[in-house]
Amino acid sequence: MINTLSSTTTVSVQTSYAVKNIKLAKWVSEAIALCKPDKVQWCDGSQEEVDALCKEMVDSGMLLRLNSELRPNSFLARSDISDVARVEERTYICSEQEDDAGPTNNWMAPTEAKGILNNLFDGCMRGRTMYVIPFSMGPLGSKIAQIGVEITDSPYVVASMRIMTRMGKEVVEVLGEAGEFVPCMHTVGKPLNVGEKDVAWPCNPDVKYICHFPETREIWSYGSGYGGNALLGKKCFALRIASTMARDEGWLAEHMLILGLESPQGVKKYIAAAFPSACGKTNLAMLVPPAELSGWKVTTVGDDIAWIKPGEDGKFYAINPEAGYFGVAPGTSEKTNPNAIRTLKENCIFTNVALTPDGDVWWEGLTDTPPAQLTDWQGQAWTPECGRPAAHPNARFTVSATSCPSLDPQWDDPAGVPISAFVFGGRRATTVPLVVESLSWDSGVYMAATLGSETTAAAIGKVGQVRRDPMAMLPFCGYNMGDYFTHWLEMGAEVDSAPPIYCVNWFRLDEKGKFMWPGFGENLRVLKWIFNRTEKKAEAVKTELGWMPSFQDMDWTGCKSVTEEKFSKLMNVDAKLWLTEIESHKEFFVKLADKLPKKFSLLREKMLATFTR
Ligand code: GTP
Ligand code: SPV
Ligand code: MN
Repeated sequence: MINTLSSTTTVSVQTSYAVKNIKLAKWVSEAIALCKPDKVQWCDGSQEEVDALCKEMVDSGMLLRLNSELRPNSFLARSDISDVARVEERTYICSEQEDDAGPTNNWMAPTEAKGILNNLFDGCMRGRTMYVIPFSMGPLGSKIAQIGVEITDSPYVVASMRIMTRMGKEVVEVLGEAGEFVPCMHTVGKPLNVGEKDVAWPCNPDVKYICHFPETREIWSYGSGYGGNALLGKKCFALRIASTMARDEGWLAEHMLILGLESPQGVKKYIAAAFPSACGKTNLAMLVPPAELSGWKVTTVGDDIAWIKPGEDGKFYAINPEAGYFGVAPGTSEKTNPNAIRTLKENCIFTNVALTPDGDVWWEGLTDTPPAQLTDWQGQAWTPECGRPAAHPNARFTVSATSCPSLDPQWDDPAGVPISAFVFGGRRATTVPLVVESLSWDSGVYMAATLGSETTAAAIGKVGQVRRDPMAMLPFCGYNMGDYFTHWLEMGAEVDSAPPIYCVNWFRLDEKGKFMWPGFGENLRVLKWIFNRTEKKAEAVKTELGWMPSFQDMDWTGCKSVTEEKFSKLMNVDAKLWLTEIESHKEFFVKLADKLPKKFSLLREKMLATFTR
């Protein structure tokens, strides 16, 4: 169907459905006038549509089709070397008041940001097709779901959003005439001149802006085609914008996995756990228990984002707003995450992994011995001796949740699943013990708020430096971190009895720099202790930090690698290190100034006192 949507431009518009939503039709025609694409395509979410797009991308060299026997219906994308991860430095919260963004976010006044963006977006899609992607975060039509519409000039984004969200014409039907949606503007920022040949991964290597307007609930992203910068339903919407919705409406939007844990007796509980980027959420969400504890079962509700609301029965209920996984590839193997390996059998998009000579994928850690020859993530010939990684450390897979063998039967229940415990974990070589249960909701919120973690390749910048990453939300909280802490403290009173809060650390190192804790499937031993604690069936010792298991309180059946001596090292709380740690809490708190909850200063002093006693 050819339509003329704008009085100033005539452009071919391809659509297979009617758009009755007045705001949507107006917004899209304004976007056409601004971005000046050659063509417009309203996406319907069908298999035929994505098949055609992938074929186009293969023909143009943007995607490589993998060997159909080894990896059916799967593709490899190689990004530009300047566009490999989230760009936190270029990410802005554009609230009216600077104080509403707070000291942990970059801020720009909305009018200033709109000025810059309007200039950048003017003509940004010349020579390209504009895709309109209607999507739902959460089950379509459910009361807790939120609708967004992304406009993009990247067919890779279309194919990825189709996996990561519920996408297509049904969303426009649900919107009806007057339904609300979050407008998400995206461009790779590389218009094509007449006759100019496109590159494999168009982006703007020099100019990137990821802007959020919490008051008007809008997202504008310029210059990057990668992950959270470009799949706007994910971090931009489901965390930064949703966290401000959650503050206003009394719920939580968190950087958390959700897993189901069923005991051999058939008792089932759900746990929500926050870890910073590339710190093990996907692994934990898909955990396969060690053989000796195979009576326990872990099921996957989500691996990255949780929306959590107080239910009428006085419990927290959580949904995963996403419909797929955008997971870290390196380190994923049959040993570390067998369920992920099974999930990746077919229908995947891989980005920045290596290619094997027979047309399959490889990444560091997939096999113990690397193949003798590969094509690396930049398309260069690679051998094990060449000294370069074959896959980029932030290489990712994109795959539908429904491909996951451990998917929880209730994963898309609009009512969500009841949460029995919250877990927070960082990547810490020292100081932080394997597991501790907080003494109260408030002290648990304090522990979560002072979570420290070493930075990873998931964001551009220095890797391996400890930074405070409150609730693993430092890059994702859409408002003032001090107000966010207050919101968390208050949410505890919104349910009858707030779930217990645990802090874990899988990443403690020994003197030789090796991980002390076996991790992965073995993490079940910690989950089992947590499960039993919530049932009042496990013992613990009270320490300066909270309740901690002694060696006998955990199940070590079949575990050879953790002796009592090693366990005591993993659990050691060193007073000197903790005094330094508590000092660094203060450094972080000072930044939040008068927004810091009063309770936090008191809790800090109390902790300091227990350590200096
Ligand atoms: P985002 O998708 O970036 O939000 O991260 P994520 O938390 O889902 O990351 P993911 O689960 O993909 O984490 C990958 C990294 O964590 C890899 O380097 C893994 O090897 C490491 N990892 C995961 N679980 C464990 C564990 O139990 N022990 C150790 N030592 N490493 C782990
Ligand atoms: C993260 O960095 O936490 C991710 C990947 O989950 S991205 O979608 O790029 O944010
Ligand atoms: Mn994440």
